[in-house]
Amino acid sequence: MKKPVVVVTHKLPAVIEVRMKELFDAHLNAADTPMPADEIIAACDGADVLVPTVTDSIDADLIGKLPDSVRLIANFGVGINHIDCAAADARGITVTNTPGVLTDDTADLTIALLVSVPRRLVEGAQLARAGGWKGWRPTFMLGHRVNGKRLGIVGMGRIGQAVAKRARGFDIQVHYHNRNRVHQAIEEELEATWWESLDEMLEHVDLLSIHCPLTPDTTNLMSAERLDRLPPHAVIVNTARGGIIDEDALAERLASGRLAGAGLDVYANEPEIHPKLLELDNVVAVPHLGSATHEGRVAMGEKVVMNVKAFADGHALPDRVLIGVDV
Ligand code: DGY
Repeated sequence: MKKPVVVVTHKLPAVIEVRMKELFDAHLNAADTPMPADEIIAACDGADVLVPTVTDSIDADLIGKLPDSVRLIANFGVGINHIDCAAADARGITVTNTPGVLTDDTADLTIALLVSVPRRLVEGAQLARAGGWKGWRPTFMLGHRVNGKRLGIVGMGRIGQAVAKRARGFDIQVHYHNRNRVHQAIEEELEATWWESLDEMLEHVDLLSIHCPLTPDTTNLMSAERLDRLPPHAVIVNTARGGIIDEDALAERLASGRLAGAGLDVYANEPEIHPKLLELDNVVAVPHLGSATHEGRVAMGEKVVMNVKAFADGHALPDRVLIGVDV
């Protein structure tokens, strides 16, 4: 049987590329240069499958121009805010993603940020490296304890729950806001308190971590008004999507001391980072590293391979994205 023609927009881990070449007629991007929309469309000439990543904008316009041969968009990544799934559906193109395999890595990074901001880890490391350390003093570089604090989790899906589980290990109290309350057994295991009202929860937390998908409903969910509901000592962490927080409002509040700190992995206009955020000592900013482990990226690649293989074999797709269902 003819191998499916698969167009991949970015360089993938070597073992995945080898597997793809064995199983598919894979068109890889060895140079790893970002492919603009017209290049993606041209590369898809005669292709069955497009494998984009979270940095490719697979919008309605691009989808409309894809050749009819393309029947599957097998995203390398879990977030699908960069893909117009409704436009894909309208053209009869199926979309898959890679859920589950990056949960633990993203939760680990979230905890690292939740601890490193109040404990001033990056500031301290920079000072030590610059030779600025003059010795231990009782009042030197004090931060804040995380143990016993109240963490608000916005979005209690897989990653939110994995963060809650880790936070319990630090004796952090877990609060969460999610459209739907999670199962009672999960709440009990995580000793988690559900808040139907996000606004109310914000007034009662010391730490806030964002774990909902970026959708039209969650764009700027953390607006200036909502940021102002947080207490001034609050630290906010975002490993979900930058567009969920109003970055101008966040930068202003962090600069003025209205908010204590932020740990950020994601930004509204990646790879650009709001310049004001980069100037602030109370911000730890890392470049979208949530899933950046060798193990995680290989597991994501394996999921893509499984989805494309299932598609080629005419089987049900393990990670089909269903329109209107949050991932
Ligand atoms: C995803 O898969 O959506 C992540 O943001 C990649 O780290």
